[in-house]
Amino acid sequence: MIVLGIESSCDETAAAIVQDGTTILSSVISSQIDVHHKYGGVVPELASRMHIEAIVPVVDDAIKKANIKIKDIDAVAATRGPGLIGALLVGFSFAKSFAFARQIPFAGVNHLEAHIYSLFLMKKKPAFPFIALVVSGGHTNIYYVTSQDNFELMGQTRDDAAGEAFDKVAKMLGLGYPGGPIIEELSKTKDPKAISFPRSMLEKDSFDFSFSGLKSSVARYIHVNNISSEDEKAQIASSFQEAVIDVLSKKLINAAHYKKCKSIGIAGGVSANQTFANKLSIRAKTKNISVFSPSTELCGDNAAMIAARGFRMIQQGSLCNLDHDVFSRTKID
Ligand code: KG4
Ligand code: ZN
Repeated sequence: MIVLGIESSCDETAAAIVQDGTTILSSVISSQIDVHHKYGGVVPELASRMHIEAIVPVVDDAIKKANIKIKDIDAVAATRGPGLIGALLVGFSFAKSFAFARQIPFAGVNHLEAHIYSLFLMKKKPAFPFIALVVSGGHTNIYYVTSQDNFELMGQTRDDAAGEAFDKVAKMLGLGYPGGPIIEELSKTKDPKAISFPRSMLEKDSFDFSFSGLKSSVARYIHVNNISSEDEKAQIASSFQEAVIDVLSKKLINAAHYKKCKSIGIAGGVSANQTFANKLSIRAKTKNISVFSPSTELCGDNAAMIAARGFRMIQQGSLCNLDHDVFSRTKID
């Protein structure tokens, strides 16, 4: 079965053609980063307009790159939420019309479940049950995944998402947007232990996160020490990144221990951070736990993961019709 996947929940317009939920025939991502860059974050109204401009060319490109014809597409899957409503509506409405015009099945996909499915598109996949972390600019969620359809939320951030903390710290240091890749690169030359920023672990046995204290602590450090040199900025970046990695790794390993899992999967934009993936793997290995992550192009928002999750939903008969709508946070059916 050939599925057209569509993603437009935030600042990437993406389309992909995936065969049988596993083989990526094409995956096209049109990023709006250049537009949002000068504002230091995503501007929702601009995002919606850019999605409208990009959706048709991006889908056309995905079909062309997959070397198929429109008539070869058997089903459509699009992100239904969570995300920016105006942005979601563009991809979801396009997908609805496409499916209606062609009279083919249409699945409305949960973006977070799709991030977990990016792990299933890899050759080396985690075996069930496993602990999954979806860590991006909008979420830091830990799941206990027992099957392809069962994701139990064990914990989430109570304030900022980890990616958001990377972006905000980068902004404080005047480094640009998105902050994650810039901070990771700068950190490579510095001792991560030089500055001791706080690690908020919250209550014992809690799998929730809080990154706002860390963010404030970095802001205070910049202010008190009157930071301006590139060298000092890189040092702060490295010590901040270490604090985030430390908390994420500890909570993940605790969660794996609690649920007696031998595998941890990480997904979402922040999982592209190789320093994080490597340090987590080293720590997990000492407990006999293996760590899985998607390839870099599947870490951030993409439509291949939407098509993969959609394929499964279609197989299960979990379909959307013209009456279904998008959702920003809470899912209302
Ligand atoms: O999954 P994603 O592309 O979009 C959302 O759904 O949010 O994630 C984007 C987030 C941004 O906050 C960005 O700074 C972060 O992922 N990110 C990183 C890295 N690459 C992207 N954070 C840390 N290290 C990276 N290498
Ligand atoms: Zn995402």
